[in-house]
Amino acid sequence: MKLMETNTKTIDQAFARDVHEGLSSSNKFLSSRYFYNATGDKLFQDIMNMPEYYLTNCEFEIFNQQKADILKQVYYGQKFNLVELGAGDGYKTKILLEHFLRNEVEFEYFPIDISADVLKELKADLHKKWPDLSVQTLNYEYFTALDKLNNLNQAPKLILFLGGNIGNFLPDVAQSFYKKLWGTMRPGDFVLSGIDLKKDPQVILHAYNDPAGITRNFNLNLLSRINQELGGNFNLNNFMHYPIYNPETGEARSYLISTKAQEIYIASLNKSYSFNPWEAIHMEISKKYGLAEIAELAEKTGFTLEKNFSDSKAYFVDSLWKKI
Ligand code: AVI
Repeated sequence: MKLMETNTKTIDQAFARDVHEGLSSSNKFLSSRYFYNATGDKLFQDIMNMPEYYLTNCEFEIFNQQKADILKQVYYGQKFNLVELGAGDGYKTKILLEHFLRNEVEFEYFPIDISADVLKELKADLHKKWPDLSVQTLNYEYFTALDKLNNLNQAPKLILFLGGNIGNFLPDVAQSFYKKLWGTMRPGDFVLSGIDLKKDPQVILHAYNDPAGITRNFNLNLLSRINQELGGNFNLNNFMHYPIYNPETGEARSYLISTKAQEIYIASLNKSYSFNPWEAIHMEISKKYGLAEIAELAEKTGFTLEKNFSDSKAYFVDSLWKKI
């Protein structure tokens, strides 16, 4: 696909290609990976602070209550690399960092994030809090960063993949992700994944359909982003946020639904996309897992499940897997 040079802004080719692919498909979709620009990051922070969004508090509780057990499972007195995929502001990780430091554990922290700004802030914040903590930020995509780290240093690894991020992958993509991750690890390395569990469907729906409309704005922000970065002309008032939860598959899905027939033009693609009334754009999947499914996923991808750390309501687990 040829991109027209309509303005001087740098157009992210991958973003443009993905938007075109999604909007020209018979079942329209957009990838939630593009939710996270500066406005999206801020809205996600707001989501994490909402009372309905239980995931953050659950993982916070797990780390607070079970940090000693987590450490016992992963530390054999040998210096290790604590690697975090998508570190963000390190809100929950700081509980582990503090506990490890208090116990004079020997480790280095390698936060990985595609946002250079996020990493800069995190590093400064950690330096202020714990000047002696060794922090090396890796501003790359996950697997590029893991390759770089493997070339840098051979110490055992504990990889953190927190917050329920795995739920944003379709199940087959989640499987490929863990297989690929396994390939970057050495025997004895661990991965600790935050995974949201199946539970009362109403609790899940509320988390993705808050009355303040923050999640709605989080989804609509991707249309604004297309307008700003690709010269789109989406009118946000003509789209309705519609989340659903399927208790059978555990899939929470969110849609933006066109409330009328309309044509959208995207200047940088020089293309128009027509919408029928009530036609949906699938925006995001947030899959919830059963414990048996987690065990199966670990086994299928080559890992040994060592332990599930659960919160008191059994809403969420941090699942510790080892490469044997
Ligand atoms: C980042 N991720 C785990 C969140 C989730 O719960 O799927 C993103 C999110 N989408 C809507 N609310 C939060």
